[in-house]
Amino acid sequence: MILCKTVAALQQEVKTAKNTNKTIGLVPTMGALHTGHASLIDAANKENDVVIVSIFVNPTQFGPNEDLESYPRTLEADCILAEKMGADIVFAPTPKEMYPSKDMTWVEVCGDITKVLCGATRPIHFRGVTTIVSKLFNLTQPDKSYFGQKDAQQVQVLTRMVKDLFLPVELRIMPIIREQDGLAKSSRNTYLSQKERVAALVLSKSLKNAEQLFANGQLNAQKIVEETTCMIKSEPLAQIDYVKIYAMPELTPIDGLLSGRNLLALAVKFGKTRLIDNTILEVK
Ligand code: PAF
Repeated sequence: MILCKTVAALQQEVKTAKNTNKTIGLVPTMGALHTGHASLIDAANKENDVVIVSIFVNPTQFGPNEDLESYPRTLEADCILAEKMGADIVFAPTPKEMYPSKDMTWVEVCGDITKVLCGATRPIHFRGVTTIVSKLFNLTQPDKSYFGQKDAQQVQVLTRMVKDLFLPVELRIMPIIREQDGLAKSSRNTYLSQKERVAALVLSKSLKNAEQLFANGQLNAQKIVEETTCMIKSEPLAQIDYVKIYAMPELTPIDGLLSGRNLLALAVKFGKTRLIDNTILEVK
């Protein structure tokens, strides 16, 4: 496996792959790789000739009081896991390499899709994500790129960006990977104290409960949100940021009964750690 730390080195590798008609799969990450990322790399390995994993803690998607400085950085261990899962190239640039000048071009998806849910409390987050992912797409020219459904809103926003900009890449969305006890895998889980880790199980439990309500015929969005909120509130360490249902794909508000595909999404803080989780409720 090759480790590229500069844009120039990466471009050389991509040129070689393209010249030999190899298909490229890109797995964009911020590192601190876990089995959720491993599943993305594994899928990319099965579907492409060359797999590129980018590892970059992207400063432009963090707000002023967020965890940019403390975000776990574990490049050596990440390279070992990436190679084991079949990565051919790890691209791990510095911020200066990706953002060489303070004047810069932004790629931004406008509208409610970036303003609801996480966008409400993280107003610059998605602009940072779409900008860095555009840069990564341009540098790696992937046939396919792999993202996890855990970041459900990110997936919808990137899908919209690809559609609006006619980008020649297929987004492959992989299911949420969970710990055995149900907690969705996240690089931020390492921040949780033992008590918070136990408390955080209320997220997957409340989503399961919502899925059950829905399976039993509850189509009233408000009722599902209320019951899910109530269950999370019963956990004293949980501080709710949001519990919401929006209609997919554009994340539009739902008046009354569910129809089509709907995203039930949660963001909840345990101490200083903000976790997200979600499920899709589909009326067939
Ligand atoms: O999902 C992430 O880890 C990041 O938002 C991404 C897509 C790598 C962009 O920095």
